[in-house]
Amino acid sequence: LLPTPEECGRVVADAVAGSVLAALGRGGPVVLGLATGSSPLLAYQELLRRHREEGLAFEGVQAFLLDEYVGLPGGHPESYREVIRRELTDELGLDPAVVHGPDGAAADPLQAARDYEDQLLAAGPVAVQVLGIGANGHLGFNEPGSSLASRTRVKTLTEQTRVDNARFFGDDVDAVPRHVITQGLGTILGAEHLVLVATGEAKAAAIAAAVEGPLTATCPGSVLQLHRHVTLVVDEAAGAQLT
Ligand code: F6R
Repeated sequence: LLPTPEECGRVVADAVAGSVLAALGRGGPVVLGLATGSSPLLAYQELLRRHREEGLAFEGVQAFLLDEYVGLPGGHPESYREVIRRELTDELGLDPAVVHGPDGAAADPLQAARDYEDQLLAAGPVAVQVLGIGANGHLGFNEPGSSLASRTRVKTLTEQTRVDNARFFGDDVDAVPRHVITQGLGTILGAEHLVLVATGEAKAAAIAAAVEGPLTATCPGSVLQLHRHVTLVVDEAAGAQLT
């Protein structure tokens, strides 16, 4: 629990850099799991600052995204693969060839989801997975009701999530895709270290339910309780309902 979103960003950057560098030190391929959305942005900016000013380098690291919209043409500026390149990986010096995401433009999204799961399992395990949480408790795009053991698959977004994400589509809810490919909750639990960041009062109920509520598909974030290495980073506002 930290006073400001900026401090949350620094602590998340510490956790991510620490886990990646430790994994690089052990040798062999290292996979970094990335979320998009607003929550990790300050952490990504801090990682970029360290890259520029302190020589933090992620050479040899592969990045895997949590999720992707279905139906946006390849290269669409709001596709998560483009967003993460713009916000982090290009400037961090990661070749686009090592930045992986589900193929939301595939003719057969169901198969694309299975292929992505296979690709991740072959490259993994994920050394550290950055996560945000939805106001409704979703992790990745595993909306409430998602199986706690789910693997990467196509999901339908709730109306609320589409409304929440309309800000990235010129405030036009109709422009937000209805379907996504998302890592499943079981897939996410396969990472060695989970780092969840949440800031602002809109996340307070979801954080309390995920951390202190029952383990339930009604709050997908509650699967964090099953994992042995979770770093939860919240500001005062997002942590306000924790007892
Ligand atoms: C993004 C993702 C989502 C977001 C969540 C919170 O890849 O998987 O679960 O982390 O919707 O979004 P923000 O951070 O924009 O509030």
